[in-house]
Amino acid sequence: MGQPREQWASRWGFMLAAVGSAVGLGNIWRFSYVAGENGGAAFLLIYVLCVLLIGFPVMMAEFMLGRRAQSDAVESFTKLAPGKPWFIGGGIGVAAAFIILTFYGVIAGWSLKYFVAYLTGGLWDTPAVEDGFAGYFVNFITDPVEPIIWQAIFMAITIGIVILGIKQGIEKANKFLMPTLAILVVLLAAYSLTLGGAREGLAFLFAPDWSALTEPSVYLAAMGQAFFSLSLGMGVMITYSSYLAEQHKLPSAAGTIIGFDTLFAVIAGVMIFPAVFAFGGEADAGPGLVFITLPGIFESIGGFGIIVGLLFFFLFTAAALSSAISLLEAPVAYVIRKFNLNRKVTALIVGVLVFVGGIPSSLGIGVLSGVTPLADRDILDSLDYISGNIMLPLAGLITALFVGWAWSRSEILKQSDLGDSGLGQAFLWILRIPVPIFIAIVFIWMASQL
Ligand code: PHE
Ligand code: NA
Repeated sequence: MGQPREQWASRWGFMLAAVGSAVGLGNIWRFSYVAGENGGAAFLLIYVLCVLLIGFPVMMAEFMLGRRAQSDAVESFTKLAPGKPWFIGGGIGVAAAFIILTFYGVIAGWSLKYFVAYLTGGLWDTPAVEDGFAGYFVNFITDPVEPIIWQAIFMAITIGIVILGIKQGIEKANKFLMPTLAILVVLLAAYSLTLGGAREGLAFLFAPDWSALTEPSVYLAAMGQAFFSLSLGMGVMITYSSYLAEQHKLPSAAGTIIGFDTLFAVIAGVMIFPAVFAFGGEADAGPGLVFITLPGIFESIGGFGIIVGLLFFFLFTAAALSSAISLLEAPVAYVIRKFNLNRKVTALIVGVLVFVGGIPSSLGIGVLSGVTPLADRDILDSLDYISGNIMLPLAGLITALFVGWAWSRSEILKQSDLGDSGLGQAFLWILRIPVPIFIAIVFIWMASQL
């Protein structure tokens, strides 16, 4: 209670923070290898359709809900529909944000460690351990202590920014980070194209394998990637838009955020694959691509490669940081309101709980690797699967149904800022029918793969 709720200082502050949430580890490596495995340009086409037809309406629904209710992801539902069970959607989202941050912080910690190793010389030459860069990476992530220290440092930075609040913390951090990231990724992509693997790298990313269009799994992969990449279904966009004043228009904001996120993914692919092909690396190496293949490439480049490596891991860590901030803010906003605590205490308590919650994911790669909660997945992969593939679509589905069906027609048209136009009508009906059906199909598919 007490103080009035904070607001963004400007519309651009809000948009940059939302772009910061969206642009993350998902754009830099997940998009690239998912695209590569699912038909290259054919996947890109389906992905763009998913982003426009599902991502845009769901992001609009989250924005409409947050801006209208001016509250956290749970109370936004209860305020507008008291006594109804819709708030469960917000609860699942906030829980998903918490869970995702537990392991996101682990991987971000690895990235921070690599950045510091490029600063201090640890990765300037092939590490003197068996298997070189691969051995170095495996030794590091299976160590019971060191990765947890880096995770702690990364989480401390995240907590510090969230403690500073909306304007002074989140908005300022993103105003610095986002333009820096945009410049870096474009520079690194341009450099990568000069390394001699441009043809193959671009073909990998853009050459269409049209047979992919007949594979149902490609559509599911595209939609899963769209949810993850746009930070939908975890209360983040509801929370961020709740600090937005009513006069700020939503459709152009959602369009800009989606445009930047997609552009960033494509440019990141242009940054990674030409370099990978130029040096004979494996393009679908997954997480190892970033932590094993790329350091090998940076070393082959020679002296300048150290600078490229330094910039790359700065980019990777900073992208993870702006996403982590949004993941922490969603549960923090909820706890501040629910338990009437101040921001500093709340961010500290929730952040420390997230950190502690991430320790099993880190240990699960090394000493606890025998623990496989879901099929043969280790702890981190199990949490990733449940949160990313089950909780996000479910929370997104509930949000789409709530805004689409529990709100009146005129309310939807008005709150979407589209009005009673052709576009407004199209939005209304896309949100009401195809969006929930698509998400439901994907949800059932994912749940059946447990
Ligand atoms: N959207 C982020 C990305 O592409 C991932 C993310 C997931 C961010 C969950 C916040 C929450 O990497
Ligand atoms: Na993204």
